[in-house]
Amino acid sequence: MLPALIQNIHRFHDYVNEILKESGGTFEFKGPLFGNMDMVITCDPTNIQHIFSKKFSNYPKGPEFRKIFEILGDGIFNADFELWELHRRTTLSLMSSEKFYSSLERSVWQKVETGLIPVFDKFLEQGFDFDFDLQHIIQRFAFDNICQLMLNYDPGSLSPDLPEIRCERALSDALEPLLHRHILPETVWKVQKWLEIGNEKKLLEAWEAFDDFIYPRISLEDNNSDNIFEAFTKAYHESENIEFSGDLKHFLRDTFLNLLVAGRDSLSTGLTWFFWLISKNPSVEIKIREEIETVLQINEKWRYFSVEESHKLVYLQAALFETIRLFPPIALEHKVPIEPDVLPGGNVYVDHNTKVIISFYSTGRMESVWGKDCLEFKPDRWILPGGGGVRHESAFKFPVFNAGPRTCLGKKMAIIEMKMVAAFIVYHFQVHVIEGHPVSPRDAVILHAKHGLRVRLSRIRNCIKA
Ligand code: HEM
Repeated sequence: MLPALIQNIHRFHDYVNEILKESGGTFEFKGPLFGNMDMVITCDPTNIQHIFSKKFSNYPKGPEFRKIFEILGDGIFNADFELWELHRRTTLSLMSSEKFYSSLERSVWQKVETGLIPVFDKFLEQGFDFDFDLQHIIQRFAFDNICQLMLNYDPGSLSPDLPEIRCERALSDALEPLLHRHILPETVWKVQKWLEIGNEKKLLEAWEAFDDFIYPRISLEDNNSDNIFEAFTKAYHESENIEFSGDLKHFLRDTFLNLLVAGRDSLSTGLTWFFWLISKNPSVEIKIREEIETVLQINEKWRYFSVEESHKLVYLQAALFETIRLFPPIALEHKVPIEPDVLPGGNVYVDHNTKVIISFYSTGRMESVWGKDCLEFKPDRWILPGGGGVRHESAFKFPVFNAGPRTCLGKKMAIIEMKMVAAFIVYHFQVHVIEGHPVSPRDAVILHAKHGLRVRLSRIRNCIKA
């Protein structure tokens, strides 16, 4: 089956989706003999529940995942068992306090004021014909914001001269090589790595860029409690049975890199697809503007709204959920069982030699899960009857933020930040996607728009604050 997969690698997610649709949600992929490439691909909610919740302890990330994502080191995405518990506990304590959300509110609006507004002003001065990649602008926004939040340091990648920051760029460059590591036989990518060629060369360059950015910012003496390094240094020293792969500085580098990936990429990907989808569905955009005006009582003069107030933007949240149902920012997951098992959906046998790929992209596109209109963008499907709020869906049917004990720790933060940025842009600007610009998902674990999102901007209102 490998030749067919390689032939379709440039449309990986849609290809997998077609196969899963034909096979009822679970498919056994056979690779070449001795290639160690046999996989089970699934998007079936029954299997998602089984893997992520019921049999959670049988499905760690495992050594295979760690090999592929070695660049993430001992960070939370790669971690299992005690190391994962250490990360989960420490990150949760940092991200669940009221102080964290007031910092979030402050840093998002500050970045709007010092980054987004000046950059958009500069673009508008160039005239209506000027076009730019909105995806990269939002990535810069999210990058600066997560650095500000976690490090108390704004690298200023979103400022009018749009400086090139290698680490910011490397976060995108590392993605294809990582997907290829899932697909190519291990020996092939290992040889490429050893020879420092092709995709593996890109990955090595990204690695260097991350190290150059992060290491100088790790301060072990700093007793500033806003700084994640203090909390993780304490956790590192208190841990007893954990074997880290390097010293404390190495561990802190890995910890921050994982949060950087989580905070920059998934969020900016969600917002990029949101702007693309509302450009195709102007009635949704109009409803979002109306909601901002009526619910927040913003009229002509803008005001920055609070985290509390963001919860009232029900229709905007529905439109964002509908976006990420169709375009989940983390499009797939990868697990390997410890003990042999049978997946209930499809009755498929799996053992420690089987990679299980879970396609969240396909879960959102299955008629059996979301109904006949599953491919349509309909925010209203999320609204409770009577307009009472956003419908809760089970995490197995809507696994975009993962399910079970490893549910995304940044879900609340992501929803708030996406709402703030989306509301600000939608209220002030009309985003026009360039006619004919190709828009399709990137062949990567993170579902960027492959060619970015080229847009022109026009102003609806001046950014005058009340
Ligand atoms: C729309 C935005 C987001 C989506 C769709 C999303 C989705 C996900 C998914 C699918 C996972 C599981 C990944 C895996 O196990 O390999 C995950 C984990 C995680 N996310 Fe998010 N995420 C988003 C935003 C964020 C943000 C802004 C942060 C904040 C830094 C964050 C922090 C985390 C962390 C720390 C984990 C690891 C949880 C664990 O393994 O226990 N996420 N997220």
